[in-house]
Amino acid sequence: MKNLTDKIVFITGAARGLGYGMAEAFAREGSKIIIADIQEELASEAAARLAEKYKVEVTAYGIDVTDVASIKQVFNLIKERYGKLDVMVNNAGIQIRCASKEFQEKDWDKLMGVNLKGPFFCSQQAALLMERDGGAIVNISSGTSTRTTPGRAPYVISKGGINSLTAVLASEWAEDRNGKKAIRVNAVAPGWIETEMVKDGFRLGVVSEKQILAAVPFKRLADPEEIAKAVVFLASDEASYITGQTLYVDGGWSALGMPDLSVCQEK
Ligand SMILES: NC(=O)c1ccc[n+]([C@@H]2O[C@H](COP(=O)([O-])OP(=O)(O)OC[C@H]3O[C@@H](n4cnc5c(N)ncnc54)[C@H](O)[C@@H]3O)[C@@H](O)[C@H]2O)c1
Repeated sequence: MKNLTDKIVFITGAARGLGYGMAEAFAREGSKIIIADIQEELASEAAARLAEKYKVEVTAYGIDVTDVASIKQVFNLIKERYGKLDVMVNNAGIQIRCASKEFQEKDWDKLMGVNLKGPFFCSQQAALLMERDGGAIVNISSGTSTRTTPGRAPYVISKGGINSLTAVLASEWAEDRNGKKAIRVNAVAPGWIETEMVKDGFRLGVVSEKQILAAVPFKRLADPEEIAKAVVFLASDEASYITGQTLYVDGGWSALGMPDLSVCQEK
């Protein structure tokens, strides 16, 4: 039993892409969903679409996860409306592709703000709302957290940080529960999915579908739904004894021991 019906689920960056796919998967479980995104109008449209299609409660808020004041504002609204939170998915993330020798400080701060600071402070606020009943946090990492790709150092570092954040918060919040219901913290590390983030890479010519297909043993990209299913699993009671783990959902990419050298040369 997943036990997600009527559970309060908060997903950042869910106006589109993988986050939207996750919201859809929780909607199918009958959860009450809060989607928040820096693109507030797009988030509202997404919420209306999901509520209409699945007949579930979906609320949309504007949020900038790089700004702790903005995070606290949204959590105050969640507290006022529901008084608790059951599931937090830290999905909002950005990619800035640039050679390390040329990477600018402002871009470093922006990327780390969205990809690492945001998940930390959202998790902090989520844990406060999970204090009484426990809950589950799922962080969205990336296959690149362990299979590094050149020209994306800060992104790779931020996602490696997500794996560490997951492990350290899991252990900290498992230890201080004193027999109360657990707060579990896990991560999903997706491989390659054709969202706007990846299409940007195709447009810029820094990665091609051909390169991806050559590197991924399954020889195809993932469907957003395949990532969402793993998130739902880790958030559900079916994962009740799992915490501190990063689950790779990448068609075997991370399992492939020997990198395809022709792929590296092509870049
Ligand atoms: N697409 C892939 O192949 C892939 C692979 C591995 C990991 N990921 C990760 O999955 C997550 C979702 O990526 P996606 O591919 O759906 O990207 P996407 O660009 O389609 O969606 C990201 C969403 O985050 C929102 N966002 C950006 N900055 C924000 C901020 N400051 N505050 C709040 N929201 C903000 C965007 O508006 C957008 O709706 C990211 O964490 C990404 O790193 C994606």
